[in-house]
Order: sequence, then structure tokens, then C-alpha cells
Amino acid sequence: MFYSIDENDHGLPFNPFKGCVVPRPIGWISTRSASGVNNLAPYSFFNAISDNPPMVVYGSNGQQPHGPKDTLRNIEETGVFVVNVATWDLRDAMNASSHPHLPEVDEFQSAGLSAEMGRLVAAPRVVESPISLECRLHQVLDLPSDDPASRNAAVFGRVVAIHIDPQVLTNGQVDPRKLRPIARLGYRDYAVINDVFAMTRPGGGDARIGL
Ligand SMILES: Cc1cc2nc3c(=O)[nH]c(=O)nc-3n(C[C@H](O)[C@H](O)[C@H](O)COP(=O)(O)O)c2cc1C
Repeated sequence: MFYSIDENDHGLPFNPFKGCVVPRPIGWISTRSASGVNNLAPYSFFNAISDNPPMVVYGSNGQQPHGPKDTLRNIEETGVFVVNVATWDLRDAMNASSHPHLPEVDEFQSAGLSAEMGRLVAAPRVVESPISLECRLHQVLDLPSDDPASRNAAVFGRVVAIHIDPQVLTNGQVDPRKLRPIARLGYRDYAVINDVFAMTRPGGGDARIGL
């Protein structure tokens, strides 16, 4: 089958776009407002896009019934954020933190999680998450929006520090079987890593990462 986005003539019961770009890592993003309220929400339009220096990006789409998304507003106000890894054990808390709460609600509390301030950035991290990336805002790039009333933006961050729980390491490497990150698929579906395989890169590519 083929369809054009302008015509939207896929003829399927649900828009297939998000089901076509899978799996998407979940950036579980924690921030603090200028007035000092902690905030936490999952974003699956998320990825790492560079490693030297390490950089991440996420997409903020639309807005809440009460106004702009807290995460984007807080990042623009403070210039910092933390990306936490959402794991199988934390799946219900991750989902709970997506509730469109009012800005004065702290989703660490509503989702039953513990917050600890970042060491290099003034934003909280999820203590229960085995990996957290402390980030400084690099750039907010406004994107086209089909709804003139709501904002779409790509938010680029530079990773300045990383927390890793030693329990997710095997022989000094982050072990996905121990980390058990969850990822977003289309519709209501998620994936969790159960199988891992390795391939040797041709042309000396592995040397760059020290393998
Ligand atoms: C797994 C998952 C992934 C999500 N990904 C995105 C995303 O990439 N972009 C977005 O704007 N909203 C996304 N959302 C919705 C936000 O989490 C939701 O709007 C949240 O209330 C935003 O909170 P905030 O206003 O505190 O930033 C996602 C929700 C879930 C459950």
C-alpha cells in the first residue's frame, strides 16, 4: 500500500505513522520550574544524536488542556533537564508520569518516585532509574505544526554528566539484559529488550569506540 500524508488516504483504522518508526527509546525527562516545582514526563520522540560530545533530542508536540507542556517551559526557563531511562520495573510509574497534571503538581510525588538534584545541573533525576543523563539545553528548534494553536519543537540537549547504577554493568559494559529498558511502539504497544546480539563492524569502525 501507499499513502500520502497530505491525502491521509491510508484507509486503516488508525494512523500508522508511529507504528512505522519502532522501537523508539523513551526519554523520561525530569525538570524543575523556575518556581521550584519538580516535573517528570515521558517522551518517545527521543534519541541520542551524537556522541562526541554526547547530545540528545526530543520532540515536544502539542500542548496540555491547561497550556504549554511543562517540560518545554521548564527547560526554556532553566536551560537544563535530565533524561532518565524507563525500565520494565518502572513502566507503571513512567505511564503515571504522563498524566496531564497542572504545572503545580510534582509528578515524582504523584508517580511515587524519589527525586535527587543533579550534580552538574539544577534539575532533579529519578533515583529509581538505573541511568540518568544530566543535560544542558543546546537549542530549541520550532517545527511546523498542523494545529496553529499548539507548538511543536525539537529540543536539543548536550549531555554533561551520566549516572549509571553499577548493577546494570557486566564486565564494565552497560548490559541491556540487566537494564531492561522499555521502548515505545505504535498504538498502545511497548517493547522490552529480551534478546541481544552482536555484530563486528567492517572497516575498523569498532576501534573508534574502543572495542
Ligand atoms: C510513552 C509515552 C511517550 C510520549 N511521548 C511524547 C512525545 O514524544 N512528545 C510529546 O509531546 N508527548 C509525548 N507523550 C505525552 C507526554 O508525556 C504528556 O503530554 C505529558 O503530560 C507531558 O507532561 P509535561 O506537561 O509535564 O511535560 C508521551 C506519553 C507517553 C506515555
